[in-house]
Amino acid sequence: MDAKVNKQQLNWTELGFQYHRTDYRFCAQYSSGSWNRGEMIASEVIQVHEGAPALHYAQQCFEGMKAQTAADGRVLLFRPDLNSERMNMAASRLLMPEVPRKMFIDAVQETVRANYSWIPPYGSGASLYIRPMLIGVGENLGLRPAQQFEFRVFVSPVGPYYKSDGLGVISLAVSEIDRAAPNGTGCYKVGANYAGGLLATRKAQDKGAHEALYLDSAEGRYIDEAGSANIVIAMKDGSFITPNSNAILPSITRKSLMVIAREQLHLKTEARPIDLRLEISQFEEAAACGTAAVLAPVGRILVDQQWHAIYKDGQTVGPIMQELYDRLVGIQMGELSDAFDWCHEVKF
Ligand SMILES: Cc1ncc(COP(=O)(O)O)c(C=O)c1O
Repeated sequence: MDAKVNKQQLNWTELGFQYHRTDYRFCAQYSSGSWNRGEMIASEVIQVHEGAPALHYAQQCFEGMKAQTAADGRVLLFRPDLNSERMNMAASRLLMPEVPRKMFIDAVQETVRANYSWIPPYGSGASLYIRPMLIGVGENLGLRPAQQFEFRVFVSPVGPYYKSDGLGVISLAVSEIDRAAPNGTGCYKVGANYAGGLLATRKAQDKGAHEALYLDSAEGRYIDEAGSANIVIAMKDGSFITPNSNAILPSITRKSLMVIAREQLHLKTEARPIDLRLEISQFEEAAACGTAAVLAPVGRILVDQQWHAIYKDGQTVGPIMQELYDRLVGIQMGELSDAFDWCHEVKF
């Protein structure tokens, strides 16, 4: 199943961020206190009991990762150990069994290998998105944890998350709807955080923005994050900052960008509360970052019915974000030296 075969006849450069059915997915079941070995299967349809806690009480979590084809043909994952760690933090928070690290990484690799023909070629601008997920299944009408669980990994070739050419500049609108409570589940990648955000995204888009920007739910002052990405900001004083909040997803992309900014761009980096209305005039450049978004420069932010341009006219990519993007993507695509040992090659 893992033999290298010819690539699919897809228009790779035209792909959007959409589900595209591939040939195989990994699937394992947990019951009576242990995981079975799991297997690769063909069907993309999951059969679950109508009483499953994943359906009623959102007892589920997921991850988002990418496999990229490097210039030399290697297939690279980016820091998959951190996705495994993060999924297990969510699993523990929602009283679900952890997926052992080896099982997680093996499942991801096996699914990527099995779908070799769907991995976008180098230079296409597309990549293979990987979606590991853990769901509480089986009958369970009352509000209590499931007795059975399914761990599944599927993949889909995807293009850019935000529609634009190259490193496109996006805009954000501050949301009046909160995403996560201060001591809630905002820092876990659980579906429950996202259902409530659908309306916030819709409202932001109705106002002409790409995405909602959430402020902290306690005071509505400090930047939390965007709907599906963290925020990083280059300040006019030369510092490079990001919110420190226990209500945001600890983004692996952000963690990596902060290291690149500090170690390679020699910027003074800091995670601290960022008071949007007080500090926006001091923003030199801003960006949203994440596996799907990669690094998307934020040109404009709508705050209290008023648009604020960040860098220049709000449509131009600034030099710091361009440099960070080039370095991050360069490492992920195997074009630049993997100085921090972040890339994990999927061997065939
Ligand atoms: C709410 C949210 N914040 C941030 C991120 C970025 O995290 P990462 O860089 O690990 O992909 C994501 C998704 O990927 C997300 O859904």
